[in-house]
Amino acid sequence: REKTLAMIKPDGLSGNYTDGIKKVILESGFRILRERVVQLDENGAATFYAEHSSRSFFSSLIKYMTSGPALAMVLEKENAIADWRTLIGPTDARKAKITHPHSIRAMCGLDSEKNCIHGSDSPQSAQREMSFFFKEMSSVHLLCQQLYVQFSILVGLVE
Ligand code: GTP
Ligand code: MG
Repeated sequence: REKTLAMIKPDGLSGNYTDGIKKVILESGFRILRERVVQLDENGAATFYAEHSSRSFFSSLIKYMTSGPALAMVLEKENAIADWRTLIGPTDARKAKITHPHSIRAMCGLDSEKNCIHGSDSPQSAQREMSFFFKEMSSVHLLCQQLYVQFSILVGLVE
């Protein structure tokens, strides 16, 4: 089944939306495979949002994302990437309140920047972002693990 990276951003975590958001996640058929509280530093936030480095709002975005701890999660479900994007709603939480009133951003977000939650936008971003927060999910790590198992079988360490 497909996996995606979700993140409750600093405003969502400090605003006590975590339990409500997790309830929506589980009721919508996702499994939470991993979760980790992270405090992004400037370097980390800039790497995570590197695609936006030339945008006018970039420095403000970095300030927002480093303003406090966030909660990174790996979610699993069929069609997880697209379904999670639908569930969180449009980027601008003010618009979300009008056009997608039941979305997570409508419920917890404030504006076009402080929108409380993140979702990967493609399989490539999902893989990159999951490895960013959960090193054990990087393809290099998984490959090493597979090679180790194959090797163990070969030399008779395991049956
Ligand atoms: P993410 O799931 O966080 O990636 O949001 P998104 O995919 O809906 O939007 P996008 O990737 O385009 O932008 C990344 C983040 O930058 C947004 O979630 C906002 O926090 C912030 N952002 C996007 N557009 C604006 C903007 O016009 N102004 C400001 N101040 N922040 C913005
Ligand atoms: Mg995005």
